[in-house]
Amino acid sequence: GIASRTTLSKPESTDIRTGFLSPITVLYGSQTGNAKRVAETLTHRAEQAGLSVRLIRADNYSLRELKQERLLYLVISTQGEGDPPDDARGLLEFIEGRRAPQLPELRYAVLGLGDSSYPEFCAIGRRMDERLAALGGHRLFPRGDADVDIETVSRGWLDQALAHAAKAAGSPSPEVPARVEVDPLPGGYGRDRPFMAEVLTNQAITGQGSDRDIRHLELSLAGSGLSYEPGDALGVWATQDPALVDAVLASTGLDPDEPVRIDDTTLPLRTWLTERRELTVLTRPFLQAHASLSGSAELRAVLEPSAREAFSALIETRQLLDILLEHPAPWSAEALVRQLRPLAPRMYSIASSYQAVDEEVHLTVAHVYDETERGPRWGVASHHLQRLVEGASASVFIEANDRFRLPADPDRDIIMIGPGTGVAPFRAFVQERSLQQGHGRNWLIFGNPHAYTDFLYQLEWHDALRAGHLHRLDVAFSRDQDHKVYVQHRLREQGAKIYGWLLAGAHLYVCGDAIHMARDVHETLIGIAREHGHRSDAAARTWIDELQQQGRYLRDVY
Ligand code: 2AM
Repeated sequence: GIASRTTLSKPESTDIRTGFLSPITVLYGSQTGNAKRVAETLTHRAEQAGLSVRLIRADNYSLRELKQERLLYLVISTQGEGDPPDDARGLLEFIEGRRAPQLPELRYAVLGLGDSSYPEFCAIGRRMDERLAALGGHRLFPRGDADVDIETVSRGWLDQALAHAAKAAGSPSPEVPARVEVDPLPGGYGRDRPFMAEVLTNQAITGQGSDRDIRHLELSLAGSGLSYEPGDALGVWATQDPALVDAVLASTGLDPDEPVRIDDTTLPLRTWLTERRELTVLTRPFLQAHASLSGSAELRAVLEPSAREAFSALIETRQLLDILLEHPAPWSAEALVRQLRPLAPRMYSIASSYQAVDEEVHLTVAHVYDETERGPRWGVASHHLQRLVEGASASVFIEANDRFRLPADPDRDIIMIGPGTGVAPFRAFVQERSLQQGHGRNWLIFGNPHAYTDFLYQLEWHDALRAGHLHRLDVAFSRDQDHKVYVQHRLREQGAKIYGWLLAGAHLYVCGDAIHMARDVHETLIGIAREHGHRSDAAARTWIDELQQQGRYLRDVY
């Protein structure tokens, strides 16, 4: 099966029965769509250079073909704490398993995508790369490990991939176009050309006394020509709080107005720090540079490979400002800007249905904020959004998410598991389904600390229940009793019913925290398949994998 609309339609590029394998296979594993986007770009550019290439999502790839591949490019992301994307779990297991074939004829290269503010940066790309080499594959050029500013690494990697592909095809100097825009319509708004959306509403939806400050935002898309589907995300370009920029500047003693030139862009230092650089997340490469510049033995120790836990603790509890204050170092303006990671947009699952709210887009945003001993610390985008008053504007774009879609058939039942702000896309789902004429039932399982302060969109859910747009609502208020109650506990209690809905064809969705919640929910689902389907553990896991492959178990987790 071929996954993407961008795939070549030439029959010989896909028809393996006739013995024609396309000379180049681009295989991707993608959770949020970034790896897919890069893989599509590679495919487009190869096609434009006249090469025969096929693009396949990892879970549509027939693993037996691996032995026949001659030139394989793998673009794969790493989730949370070192997990593969859902669509590449099977591929990873196969390649790392005992049944993996020797691949002496394979030439390949891997581009890993990840987030260097997590300890297991690009772990899946690295594992795949090492394993393909161990199976006898010939690595054409070194792996790229792309950070959240994907382009910085992917650009060079793509150029190398195209050059090798052209050489393999026997066209020594390919007409390789420099860059192909894959998504945006001409003149349309997109990631690199965001729309300035007016803030119509910005209101707290957690009550007084809650531990969290969660906001409901409504932004206007009027005049943008933008629209979206339930499941899509909104990209938000934030700017840093001026108070933080001032504090960073003061801690370095640098002149805010000093012009700094990087590539072709010259801006004052203050502008670089306010608009173009990450200040609220630390990365290993930055800390490495800072450790040598500051000469701090303490920092150097934390960067040792054996000090994993200390490193994780450091990047969870410290930001750039803390490091600059605790371990002073003589940064020059240019070196500092070069070492800091480019500011990346943050993605928020959209909380509205375009059909229902017409030229608006709604978000559910938790303000990431902490009062530490060293002063307040926050997350850049949620802090930016939280400060926006009505009438201000936010710099946004739509990020399609084909992997998180309502069933095409409105008669299908859906089960939605969304604790915390993970409930956002399900508000969109319920709005959308309320406008469809289907008979499918909607079941929402929501969790948060306290019913009294944290029952997000409570009135809307009750209205939807009354109107027959929501058919079941289960809630897990984790701290309203002396033991924790989580969404997966509700899931387990309702195991027989969940299993019945799934057997009858329901689609199940999970949105929210990847590291704890989504893993625990996944194990609980396997438990339900075991208990209520009377399966062995292995058979239960296979059953859940099949749900995933059929597109009936979809996750939007981060
Ligand atoms: P807690 O903070 O009281 O532990 C949204 O963040 C909700 O998810 C909160 O009620 C939170 O509970 C809960 N939560 C925390 N860890 C979880 C896990 N591993 N699985 C499911 N829910 C979890």
